[in-house]
Amino acid sequence: MKVLPDCFKNDLDSQELASLLDPHRIPTHVAIIMDGNGRWANRRGLPRIAGHRAGVNPVRDCVETCAQLGVEALTLYAFSVENWKRPRAEVDTLWRLLRFYLRRELPELNKNSVVLRVLGRLEALPAKVREEIDYAEERTRRNRGMRLNLAINYSGRAEILDAVNAVIARARLNGTLDSLQLDEESITANLYTSDLPDPDLLIRTSGEMRVSNFLLWQIAYAELYVTETLWPDFNRAELIRAFLDFQKRERRFGGLGLKTPPPPEPAGVSLEADEWIEETAVSSK
Ligand code: FPP
Repeated sequence: MKVLPDCFKNDLDSQELASLLDPHRIPTHVAIIMDGNGRWANRRGLPRIAGHRAGVNPVRDCVETCAQLGVEALTLYAFSVENWKRPRAEVDTLWRLLRFYLRRELPELNKNSVVLRVLGRLEALPAKVREEIDYAEERTRRNRGMRLNLAINYSGRAEILDAVNAVIARARLNGTLDSLQLDEESITANLYTSDLPDPDLLIRTSGEMRVSNFLLWQIAYAELYVTETLWPDFNRAELIRAFLDFQKRERRFGGLGLKTPPPPEPAGVSLEADEWIEETAVSSK
């Protein structure tokens, strides 16, 4: 990448890495499971909430960097439906931090022309948080740049169920329930992300090899990138490393991913394979 966006100006660590990026292969939709705030705090002898507080700056840096690199959508997993099981004080701190982030970052989101949306079952959130969300969504609605999705009180399974139920409800209303055939398009069209391409890169921090009920339908073909780095330490350079790794991947979507068709198999090989398949089928009966 020859001309680097503004966000790299004062960040020497990431400048050099960013110059290695292929501007034509920036991921279109990046999803991030921000994990490791608690461990980050624990390692420093601090309360868990200190880890969450330290997790706000990487959110800011990732949003700014993705927006300036031309990423179309960034989806951040900020609060899962399972997170309600945490101590009340921790949950309250997460709401406070979210309100603080939305208020503090609004000018910056607008500067980068970011459109903010919150995905999840929002009716369960405290009223003050919902008000702040509504305000920020409204204030960024007319922007034309990157879409920033914050997944809050989110569950991938619940999202799929809601989508299926919406299709069924519509068919009932139209009197077409008897002949209803669910297909992938109708479910995709009823997800929170119906107007966006599926994520092509899913990043998870803190080394855990799990998808934790995040965008289950949408990540079917996403490239996974797991780093040991804990979320509060995930800086711009770390994000660029994930992008560079993504740019090395060969994406095949279940096919062979070949630019030219494979050479024909030498005569006899497929016959041998057929015989082998038949023999195995007979002996395993
Ligand atoms: C996971 O770390 C992180 C969360 C449950 C919350 C994510 C919240 C932030 C990054 C702070 C602010 C967010 C926004 C959008 C302003 P964990 O607590 O599960 O860490 P652990 O696995 O080490 O305990």
